Amino acid sequence: MASDARVRRGGKVWGARLGGRTSRRVEEYTSSVAVDRRLFAEDIQGSLAHVRMLRAVGLLTAAEASRLERGLGSVQTELERDTFVFQPADEDIHTAVERRLGEIAGDVAGKLQTARSRNDQVATDLRLYGRRVCGELMLAAAGLQEALLDRAREHRTTVLPGYTHMQRAQVVSLAHHLLAYVEMLQRDVERLENAQRRSDVLPLGSGALAATTLPIDRDVTAAELGFSSLTANSLDAVSDRDFAVEIVFACALLMVHLSRLGEELVLWTSSEFGFAELPDAYATGSSLMPQKKNPDVLELARGRSGRTVGALVSLLTMLKGQPLAYNRDLQEDKQPLFDAVDIAASSLAMLTEVVRVLRFDTTAMRRAAGDPGLLATDVAEWLVGQGVPFREAHGLVARAARRAADGRRSLDRLSPADWSAIDPRVGPEVTKLFDPQRGLRRREVPGGPGPRAVSRQLARGAAMVTATRRRVALLAEPADRGGAVRARRRR
Ligand code: ARG
Repeated sequence: MASDARVRRGGKVWGARLGGRTSRRVEEYTSSVAVDRRLFAEDIQGSLAHVRMLRAVGLLTAAEASRLERGLGSVQTELERDTFVFQPADEDIHTAVERRLGEIAGDVAGKLQTARSRNDQVATDLRLYGRRVCGELMLAAAGLQEALLDRAREHRTTVLPGYTHMQRAQVVSLAHHLLAYVEMLQRDVERLENAQRRSDVLPLGSGALAATTLPIDRDVTAAELGFSSLTANSLDAVSDRDFAVEIVFACALLMVHLSRLGEELVLWTSSEFGFAELPDAYATGSSLMPQKKNPDVLELARGRSGRTVGALVSLLTMLKGQPLAYNRDLQEDKQPLFDAVDIAASSLAMLTEVVRVLRFDTTAMRRAAGDPGLLATDVAEWLVGQGVPFREAHGLVARAARRAADGRRSLDRLSPADWSAIDPRVGPEVTKLFDPQRGLRRREVPGGPGPRAVSRQLARGAAMVTATRRRVALLAEPADRGGAVRARRRR
């Protein structure tokens, strides 16, 4: 058996092929350990599964397998306790673990990489990570949905203006406004679930690019790790990062949604709007202007969305020029993936708290919603009910709005006589239309802001949150059973 020292000349797993030492600058330039060390749990999980498979097919004896398993357990403990000492020659987490395993378990460590390459290993680690974080992000998104639903429930009849072009448009309720974000987040949850399904395919067994001549059993490894299926092409398996792109895209679009929420709350907490206030614990001050209370948290959610969009562009650009199969470029997949996931996770947690503690000024909202212009469309639609064609009704109310503006009055200040002067078909009941609460209650179509339509949205939202939690719990079944259970369910 080759001794560890000979195989690992210069401390490298590939050291035997090249003479002398690697340049220090090359070591630093090519190292990914600072980024990929956080994959240590996935790496060891993958290695344990691989060892059990090698044992099952007879490529390892029972004694060898248990020495490797015990050794890997010790390495894991060191990494968990942060007592693991990385060496300059450790290229990445995979070689670091293998090196340390050799130090702990001796020559048997040289058998760990039987029928395995770092190429299928790293793809497996990343898919394990992706599968896990998608579930975590789904739960975090459901948590924000729940916070929005709770606040919405308090405000089914709280009126405020809805805007188009940032101009007051029509009356909506605060509940309806908050529920718009629940819907956006639901699509994010679905995208994450899809990305999770995409991640749930096992590449291990694809070797460096052309699988192996050794009699491995990939189904055993898949069952050990709870993967639902095997990759079907070894060249694709080691070079495919579509699942990572899809996770990052899901994070980027999610962050675009959180950015929009952040932006609206920045506006609402401004003196100009005054619709909401952050408790002091969630605001920041100015080092120069003593009176300031700033919404930095919301601005950072908005600002960090840019980094997630950047991560998506990085990944796509990194992939686009690569010939099959593995190229070292692929090592650059981790930073953008981790960054996008971290930003999405922390922003979801932060905004969930902000939504829960935000103080709404319903008086300011009601005042703004009292703008009678918000009910101009209602007047036109009321005329439609009287048999006036909509285009004509629109023109008629527009003339009324102009007359009111010319007289520096608001629309609700026009008298019944003013209205009948504009058009004799307009009866005196028109003046009763200028009540925002009633305006809200007139909009009960499905998906509308009417209180009863909103109650249905609330019920839908609560059901979606429950369903998400149930689905994530199913996905998080014990790894050794999960695959088999899922396979059965699929049939
Ligand atoms: N650190 C590398 C990565 O993340 C591991 C694979 C190295 N493979 C190789 N053929 N050099 O992609």
